[in-house]
Amino acid sequence: MYAIASSPGKAILFGEHFVVENQPAIAVALSLRARVKASLMDASVIRVSSRNLSMARKFAIPPSGEGDPLFPVAYSAYLVMERIGSPRGIDIEVDSSIPPGSGMGSSASVAVATIAATSYVLGAELSPEEISKLAFESEKIVHGRPSGIDNTIATFGGAIAYRKGEGFLRLNVDFSEVSLVLADTGRARNTGEFVKRVLALKEAFPNVLEPIYYAAGRLAVEAAKLMERGDWEAVGVLMNVNHGLLSAIGVSTQEIEQLVYTARRAGALGAKLTGAGGGGFIVALCRKGSENAVAKELEKISPRVIISNVSSEGVVVEAKS
Ligand code: MEV
Repeated sequence: MYAIASSPGKAILFGEHFVVENQPAIAVALSLRARVKASLMDASVIRVSSRNLSMARKFAIPPSGEGDPLFPVAYSAYLVMERIGSPRGIDIEVDSSIPPGSGMGSSASVAVATIAATSYVLGAELSPEEISKLAFESEKIVHGRPSGIDNTIATFGGAIAYRKGEGFLRLNVDFSEVSLVLADTGRARNTGEFVKRVLALKEAFPNVLEPIYYAAGRLAVEAAKLMERGDWEAVGVLMNVNHGLLSAIGVSTQEIEQLVYTARRAGALGAKLTGAGGGGFIVALCRKGSENAVAKELEKISPRVIISNVSSEGVVVEAKS
């Protein structure tokens, strides 16, 4: 018996980092997806293999091995077994087109797809809310203190406004006039480490940092209204302001700045880092028709440039038998 589930990667358009401290943020699902096949096995182990990482491991039930890149996958499968009270030997095959350490939510998408595939193959249909909740538990292993935005967008897809502790609102946005161009700095980084660094800065200078957090929250609220109205020029301006706030809290780098300025000069409406920063990808908002010119300029200095539409599709079970 097997089940295959897939889940989208994401780009945060407004509010990364600030969302960890309860400010609202906006994320969209991308066309890149993580795909996971879960098959029942006789041996009572959780076997995990990743095509992208060219790795395979066997984990006991319950799994141990924190620090192993495949441990969070085994842990996600185990969370399902624990939730439905059915420990079983299972084989998990991961095949993802979302680059890890990129800021595009690779770990959350793999967790969501693993949980959906595992629950199907174990004969329990979890609701999307339950899948997202278990993926949040798994994300704690990877990030330490996740806000919950990554597992939410990976489960529900589309465009969402998210606030920790309050949940999410689906935004009603017509993306037909714009495209997103994502460009890699070539430097993978650890989200948990950057989240800790930013929180330490806030703790050291609360009076300075709190107004920046507040501004970022107001900015996300304004941006949501502008996106729903289709005022893309103004959305681009606010992306640039958001990037400035992220630079202020110390998560930009020289490579990120170069990509951001190149995208803006090449005609993007706005450009900013996306995700935890310190490396990873930038996201540029382009009017339809100008995305190829922006991508061409970025390709001169970036090892990987991706043009993506926003995908309305969240987690789906693609096949089962
Ligand atoms: C990571 O994709 C986004 C951060 O805001 C962390 C989080 O929200 O969990 C940096």
